[in-house]
Amino acid sequence: TRYDLLIINGVVVTDTEIGEYEIAIKGEKIVKIVGRGGLKDAKAVKIIDAEGGYVMPGGIDAHVHLDEPPLFGKGSTADNYETGSRSAVCGGTTTMVTFAPQKKSEDTLLDTLHATHAKAKDVCYIDYSFHLLVGNPSDKALSEFKTLREEGVSSLKIYMTYEALQLHDGQILDVLLESRKQQITTMVHAENGQVIDWMTAQLEKRKMFAPKYHGTSHPPMAEIEATYRAISLSEFIDTPILIVHVSTPAAASHIKQAQDRGLPIYAETCPQYLFLTKDDLDQPGFEGAKCVCSPPPRESEADCDDIWEGLANGTFTILSSDHCPFRYNDNVKGKKTPISAEYPLGHFKYIPNGCPGIETRLALTLSADRLDLKKFVEVTSSNPAKLYGLWPKKGGLIEGESDADINIWYPPGKMQEYALTNEMLHHDCDYTPFEGRIMKQWPRYTVLRGKVVWDKEGGGLLGEKGYGRFAERGASSLAGPRNEREWDIPL
Ligand code: URP
Ligand code: ZN
Ligand code: ZN
Ligand code: ZN
Repeated sequence: TRYDLLIINGVVVTDTEIGEYEIAIKGEKIVKIVGRGGLKDAKAVKIIDAEGGYVMPGGIDAHVHLDEPPLFGKGSTADNYETGSRSAVCGGTTTMVTFAPQKKSEDTLLDTLHATHAKAKDVCYIDYSFHLLVGNPSDKALSEFKTLREEGVSSLKIYMTYEALQLHDGQILDVLLESRKQQITTMVHAENGQVIDWMTAQLEKRKMFAPKYHGTSHPPMAEIEATYRAISLSEFIDTPILIVHVSTPAAASHIKQAQDRGLPIYAETCPQYLFLTKDDLDQPGFEGAKCVCSPPPRESEADCDDIWEGLANGTFTILSSDHCPFRYNDNVKGKKTPISAEYPLGHFKYIPNGCPGIETRLALTLSADRLDLKKFVEVTSSNPAKLYGLWPKKGGLIEGESDADINIWYPPGKMQEYALTNEMLHHDCDYTPFEGRIMKQWPRYTVLRGKVVWDKEGGGLLGEKGYGRFAERGASSLAGPRNEREWDIPL
């Protein structure tokens, strides 16, 4: 046989194994993995010599906001499906799961899903799927969960904060019960919205408007309480949840205790909680707005260390970017500096929440050299695939089963250390919150379904707009409800 692509001389890393293997690809699939030298006589259209670099499954970013309105104020995210997926592929992410946002004023989820399909169709550089963002769990919306599954969508997100989207506990129970019936994974943004509103009013009374007060208005307690409440609601309905973007060590320890009790509680964290602290919000002028996201960067590096520890010990199932870019200085694309007649120096509560990060997630984390390599693959690729029903087509390197979605990194020590700058990136945002970080790695090659889509030294972005495809998803392959399917609420 003649292969289409061989990847030789690499150190292959998956979530379970590390070793000197070589990979043969035919069409879009991985068809053979053998020990070093095992493809010596094989014929192929193209051969990539990894020169001892790590060869890993392509990144899966399961928390991405594209072409979304901000949760308050005007404009939209700086990236749409084209620019967001372009940025993704240039950083080694080959699959993304973005949000299809249903508004509170809308009754149906299917219209939202179809409208989001239309935004993504023919413009993506990478494979994609959607989480339904449920703003209104009406009877009609709940009745559509079954159809979502039939249309290849097996997850949704709900909010415990933000006036525009916040659900009360009864609505959350409605969503969890129907999710259980349809084997859907529910993602929860766990912050107590009323606490945040109350703190915001306290700060306003004292005329404290600077960006750093965004952090003050989102105290750890608001996240800790909501996390524990979400876990309690999930246990009551006996259905898995994933707590998104966890930032607070005490919230992580509630999660860990629930996991130790055998509950199907999953958790996500993001690079901003590994690398940023409240000092990044407390900058001269309005600069701190660049790091305004929710939850906010926390108190100190000791908090970041605890979040790293939570990745290492398995508390965090996945590491996503929460890419939610708004331009620092652009009136059209939303603006991090919403200055008005009333607030000539701005007001933290009008800063759109979120940071860009789809392109930097993998390289930043790998460059930090703080995670075991198998764990790195697990949290950035394999677990997102398992939790959201893409495994083993995505997130693994399994002969005959996995798509040939592969990252080849520089051999350790081969890359000159460099400082990250926004100019290097391919998003449509005018800053990165990680400007100036010292980096040791970047993907050298990225392959998506057998095609080389990124070659850092051979033209950079080689992928094409529209090559990315909708990835239909099934049920999670991680542990689900503890009881039988026929289980009903305790009456
Ligand atoms: O600040 C954030 N995270 N913005 C994005 C919206 C969300 O809650 O994930
Ligand atoms: Zn449909
Ligand atoms: Zn959120
Ligand atoms: Zn988000």
